[in-house]
Amino acid sequence: MRNTWEFYSTEKIVFGNGAVQHLDSILTRLKAKNVLLVTDPGIKNAGIADRVTNILRDAGYQTAVFDKAVPEPPIETALECWEFAKTQMQTDAVIGLGGGSSIDLAKVVALLMAHGGHPLDYYGENLVPGPIAPLVAIPTTAGTGSEVTSVAVLTDVANNLKIGISDNYLRPAVALLDPELTVGLPPYVTACSGIDALSHAVEAYTAKRFSYIQAEGSILFQGSIPISDALALEAIELIARNLPLAVLQGSNLEARSNMLLGSLMAGMAFSNAGTAAAHALAYPIGGLVKSPHGEVTGLLLPYVMDFNKEVEQKKMARIALAFGVNPAGASERELAAEAPKAVLRLLETVGLPTRLSQIGITADQIPEIAEKALTISRLVRNNPRVPTQQSFEELLRKAL
Ligand SMILES: NC(=O)c1ccc[n+]([C@@H]2O[C@H](COP(=O)([O-])OP(=O)(O)OC[C@H]3O[C@@H](n4cnc5c(N)ncnc54)[C@H](O)[C@@H]3O)[C@@H](O)[C@H]2O)c1
Ligand SMILES: [Fe+2]
Repeated sequence: MRNTWEFYSTEKIVFGNGAVQHLDSILTRLKAKNVLLVTDPGIKNAGIADRVTNILRDAGYQTAVFDKAVPEPPIETALECWEFAKTQMQTDAVIGLGGGSSIDLAKVVALLMAHGGHPLDYYGENLVPGPIAPLVAIPTTAGTGSEVTSVAVLTDVANNLKIGISDNYLRPAVALLDPELTVGLPPYVTACSGIDALSHAVEAYTAKRFSYIQAEGSILFQGSIPISDALALEAIELIARNLPLAVLQGSNLEARSNMLLGSLMAGMAFSNAGTAAAHALAYPIGGLVKSPHGEVTGLLLPYVMDFNKEVEQKKMARIALAFGVNPAGASERELAAEAPKAVLRLLETVGLPTRLSQIGITADQIPEIAEKALTISRLVRNNPRVPTQQSFEELLRKAL
């Protein structure tokens, strides 16, 4: 039995419409003069990068811009960004502006600035030797929660693998969240990133209780703890009630704001509690097909919830209530069975795939996916129902 838990977050969160105007005071507090802005072409084309560089220019900062981030960034892109950073004068703060891909890249560069080496040197958990360069994360998607998390994900293209660097030192110094920056996010990216946030919240909420996690020593993904439970349940309700509007009526600033708050809370929750089977299964699938991360985790989520519903009945019932499902006279067990169905309906409403065959997975790949997923012990040990090769294969066949 584990007896204690810990909770980490970023030191400072600034949230609200127009919050990006606070960038100057944030950088002043970090004593920064020369900044590196990491972003991607989509953010540049949307005019968001210019908005931020104008604020920086008007306030007198020297700004170097790396705008070549790509979705699900390969290790090579991180190295390219690091080479670019080295050609600039002494950088004293990094800004990650964009979705999880740009923010994760900014994290890796801030890590290499402080400690040198190669991204693969830090692959795994708790391998970052100390604080990274001061990092301000400004999300433009409502999804990954990367602005507060301890995780950076890169793609090892040669080996068809996603690699994760996880360490509490990777949390940005400041998370700056401005819902106005997310208003132009295209519907499909809104759906994929939003459902990823839901997966984080549901997996953190229903994770095995921290005391029963079978691991020795200090671990980042600790299982369900009281603070992450509170954050995750609120995130589930915010996302369930606002994702359809954010996708189907993108200009709705209130829905965008609630989604950004939901993804932030989900990030705070899962970066302490951890995610579980949906994310474990999504890793090998992400290596086989070119789907966005959220498309895969969201697709798997209702099947994983169905798999777990008998073990976490009370929490599944609460999830159904958070989705607004409350059939008269339903028992807790019946309510719990409604939760995966509510998630499946949400996937359909926002136009996301609900079957693995739709994203190109075939029956013969199932044993390999199950086998690889089972090796990701930090996620698998978090799942409330203990999976086996056979039960994972069955789950995947249902999802095919
Ligand atoms: N660090 C973490 O804790 C964590 C957690 C989950 C996922 N991830 C990783 O994050 C990545 C996915 O991030 P994501 O879902 O946020 O998407 P993303 O960063 O990959 O962006 C997707 C696309 O949306 C565009 N875009 C983003 N914001 C926009 C805006 N406001 N207007 C117009 N276009 C915009 C981008 O240009 C890009 O083309 C994956 O690599 C995933 O593995 C990281
Ligand atoms: Fe995720």
